[in-house]
Amino acid sequence: MRQPGAEEARRWAAALGDDQAPATEDAPRSRFAWCVTGSGHYLEESMALAARLPDVDLFLSSAADEVLPLYGLKLEDLRARFRVFRDKSASAVPVGRLYAEAYHTVVIAPATSNTVAKCAFGFSDTLPTNMFAQAGKLGIPNLVFACDTEPVVITKAPRSSQEEWFTLRPRNIDLENIERLRAIDFCQVLRSADELEAALEARLRALSLGWVGPQGR
Ligand SMILES: Cc1cc2nc3c(=O)[nH]c(=O)nc-3n(C[C@H](O)[C@H](O)[C@H](O)COP(=O)(O)O)c2cc1C
Repeated sequence: MRQPGAEEARRWAAALGDDQAPATEDAPRSRFAWCVTGSGHYLEESMALAARLPDVDLFLSSAADEVLPLYGLKLEDLRARFRVFRDKSASAVPVGRLYAEAYHTVVIAPATSNTVAKCAFGFSDTLPTNMFAQAGKLGIPNLVFACDTEPVVITKAPRSSQEEWFTLRPRNIDLENIERLRAIDFCQVLRSADELEAALEARLRALSLGWVGPQGR
């Protein structure tokens, strides 16, 4: 696949309303690509972990774009800390950044049941599922925080809700898809925020990097 030059990449990013720093100007394999999906469950904990890492770019699904503000996470505040890429094109244009070799790791956290199912069966029709598939094809490690992992899940309600917490029971198909996902190449599945933190710690150590933000979620 021919890669767009820096000017072309900047024009695409401007047209999509994304951050305009071309990946070709980043040091090779120097950044985390962190994909956010439309999950309220563990959203705040995942974003808090992302904020403690060095050099992170966010890639949002359309659902994440809608769900983030429902949990008080505004796009303009995220842009102060991260480069942000949104799901505004049918062909997942920002995925081209992976081919510029700027990323050493792709993280999907939190991952909805929908995204887990698509990744497990090889679908790629959103920005996060395209990042996952292309990272696998490039041999870049994927860390996926599949958070609907227990038979009973207590999850935080959006701020607009009268309730503070909801109880959900993930279906067998959701739990089976998590197991299916484990068999995908270049993919590590995490089942809790602590497991995700430990996997990120291991990744940082392997890359001779360290946390940059304050400890504690
Ligand atoms: C407030 C809110 C919270 C949600 N939380 C979850 C969740 O915790 N887990 C989940 O699988 N889906 C959740 N959803 C549903 C997903 O956003 C929906 O399935 C969406 O199609 C997922 O798209 P994506 O996987 O491309 O991000 C939530 C939706 C809303 C409106």
